[in-house]
Amino acid sequence: MNQNSKVRKQTIKDFNNQWKLQGELNKDYWASDEILIDQFNNIFDLNQISNKIVGDVGAGTGRVVRTLLKFNPKKVFAIEPSDVGIKKIKNDFIEKNNLKIIQSDGLNFQTDDLCDFIFSLGVIHHIKDPTDVLINIRKNLKKNGQLIIWVYGYENNLPYIIFYKIISKFTKYLPDRSLYILANILNLFLQIYIFFCKFINLPLKDYLLNVYNKFGWTKQTDVIFDQLNPQYAKYYKKEEILKELKDAGFKDLKISHRHNYSWTVVGKN
Ligand SMILES: C[S@@+](CC[C@H](N)C(=O)[O-])C[C@H]1O[C@@H](n2cnc3c(N)ncnc32)[C@H](O)[C@@H]1O
Repeated sequence: MNQNSKVRKQTIKDFNNQWKLQGELNKDYWASDEILIDQFNNIFDLNQISNKIVGDVGAGTGRVVRTLLKFNPKKVFAIEPSDVGIKKIKNDFIEKNNLKIIQSDGLNFQTDDLCDFIFSLGVIHHIKDPTDVLINIRKNLKKNGQLIIWVYGYENNLPYIIFYKIISKFTKYLPDRSLYILANILNLFLQIYIFFCKFINLPLKDYLLNVYNKFGWTKQTDVIFDQLNPQYAKYYKKEEILKELKDAGFKDLKISHRHNYSWTVVGKN
């Protein structure tokens, strides 16, 4: 197995374990339709998926799928590699006959029908050198079908990225329960930082005040855990993520800087 495959496999394993501890689809902001609509940032309108064939690559425990199903798609393919993610999706959506669940990673999945739209939110930044995965996504899209992705951004986040690079060297290997204790402690410090964000233009201010602050304490610690647990995460510069999509053959790219800290990109096959 080459180095990339090892890293990808370990990242999937990390999420499998993470989903044992979190990912419940409650009626909170994290699992809301509102947060996803916010993620699309005016460059994609979910009403477009009505009566269309849609895929979700890296579906996790089904939070995106739940919103997609509300917009009357003809069919949804939920594609997720982790056992626990798949189990949770099967449990929660058992009665939906327009949902097809596929256990696969992004490189090897194949949908029965070509899709009009494929979503992959918060996934591509966890796949090392994802060109081959993006090419496979394109193979599963109709001509002119669209890919909608959301990835972590590099711009405006340098202080955080330096902190992340140092601390994650050690947190990746911490047992999950210990990482949760650390996430609680970090969240305490973050509350002080958020307080100052109200008065000073600090890095990540927009995200912290408008997104993170809407999560309750438990979900906030889940989000910190989610940052520090996976084996691999990349913070993309605008030009880097556009190049990834272009290299995989996507065209007519639209990009938006969500809350000045992350990138939402739409590309056509
Ligand atoms: C941060 S979660 C995002 C889940 C979901 N998209 C959401 O927004 O709630 C990342 C997901 O990507 C999946 N993943 C990781 N590596 C993957 C790969 N190589 N191919 C497909 N999915 C992958 C993980 O198992 C995990 O469920």
